[in-house]
Amino acid sequence: MDKFDTSNPRETLERVAAALGCRPTAPQVAAYLDEHDELRHLRESFLLPKVADLPPSDLSLVDGSQDCIYLVGNSLGLQPKMARAYLSEELEKWAKMGVHGHTEGSRPWAWAENNIEEMMANVVGAKPEEVALMNGLTVNLHLLLLSFYQPTAARHRILLEDKAFPSDHYAVESQIRLRGFDPQQSMLLLSPRPGEDTLRTEDILEVIEKEGDTIAVVMFSGVQYYTGQLFNMAAITEAGQRKGCYVGFDCAHAAGNAELKLHDWGVDFACWCSYKYINSGAGGLAGAFVHEKHKHTIKPALLGWWGHDLKTRFHMTNVLELQSGVSGFRLSNQPILLVCPLQASLEVFNMTNMQALRRKSLLLTGYLEYLVQHYYTKDPARPDKPHVHIITPSDPQQRGCQLSLSFSVPIRRLFQELEKRGVSLDMREPSVLRVAPVPLYNSFTDVHRFIQALGEALTTSSQ
Ligand SMILES: Cc1ncc(COP(=O)(O)O)c(C=O)c1O
Repeated sequence: MDKFDTSNPRETLERVAAALGCRPTAPQVAAYLDEHDELRHLRESFLLPKVADLPPSDLSLVDGSQDCIYLVGNSLGLQPKMARAYLSEELEKWAKMGVHGHTEGSRPWAWAENNIEEMMANVVGAKPEEVALMNGLTVNLHLLLLSFYQPTAARHRILLEDKAFPSDHYAVESQIRLRGFDPQQSMLLLSPRPGEDTLRTEDILEVIEKEGDTIAVVMFSGVQYYTGQLFNMAAITEAGQRKGCYVGFDCAHAAGNAELKLHDWGVDFACWCSYKYINSGAGGLAGAFVHEKHKHTIKPALLGWWGHDLKTRFHMTNVLELQSGVSGFRLSNQPILLVCPLQASLEVFNMTNMQALRRKSLLLTGYLEYLVQHYYTKDPARPDKPHVHIITPSDPQQRGCQLSLSFSVPIRRLFQELEKRGVSLDMREPSVLRVAPVPLYNSFTDVHRFIQALGEALTTSSQ
């Protein structure tokens, strides 16, 4: 989207509309932006479900042969087309050569994950040796906390969001208990100010400054799963480390969505799943990051043979030659069937880069915001008209691609009506729909179709 000023979507949309002689809300604007999107071919690398194949679709309302309006990549990314071919290759190899598959072919099972770590490192702004692909996200969070959370009587607290994702909350709670501390005393939970939806960076930094001497670990999400807020990870890292804390991030909603610089920001550790924006399929192989500065100092608390240096791993001497850094945190051999879809997706990421994806994302999400505000801003003259409050920050620097829309009407029925019309998105009761136009495969036309479907769904559900 190089020819557009993607940092100012409103102005860009108005300029494009003026040049086309239509209004910014017209479908021609979406079509024009799609035509000039240099990344639009990437959509071809994914399988988009057809409306007719989605169980809730009502084919009396919508053409079943169309692609569905898939805006739920924040929950489960689409299937990369090459995933099936790579899986077939490995199944074939297994069938034909059995155990020899460990060392043969383009994806030798015994080190297949190592071959794709560089591509993953590019996505999260890390060095390849700072990244390990293994386990699931919550498992990795536990493994990392076991090493980075070293509570003492004076410094035993973990700072996290009050509404952190439940798994993170439980992980932190159980780690604190495991060390003999009391979660009531040792979990420092941060809430937005009364009446506000998201945390202010200045408030986060102030708490770190004030309480930092008692905090062992600052553990935030990169992008908040519910509000879509992108935290200022550089500032949080700097503030936490200045007070002597380790700083880690759960990047489940940030990896493949925001432009991350885990290495340059000096983040101590991070983990993420790969089935959302990284499209590896449900339960896909997760990522872990340990900054290279900890390469020789932070050791894994739990050991397994996959942490042993590959060169001598199979000598079976029982004398551990631990790999340095995050590689030493590996425990088990990796599931090749999970490596395949992840490789397929990372290859698509590698056809571009996060800067280009982010440029498109700013305009794509800005377009969604523009249309939502245009049609659904609260109108004091018509208080009964359904309206939408966007709880995601309006500052593009403080969000990824997701907008969390809070509706003035109950959303269960609305959500059902949207699903009937071939829209895939995510509902959080009582009033929030999370809508994620993903720059890797969503188009401006998807967003425009969503707004049309939303209008119809709102009308029907309010009757
Ligand atoms: C922010 C966040 N943390 C943790 C998890 C849990 O991930 P997993 O079940 O892969 O461990 C999720 C899953 O959606 C998540 O969004």
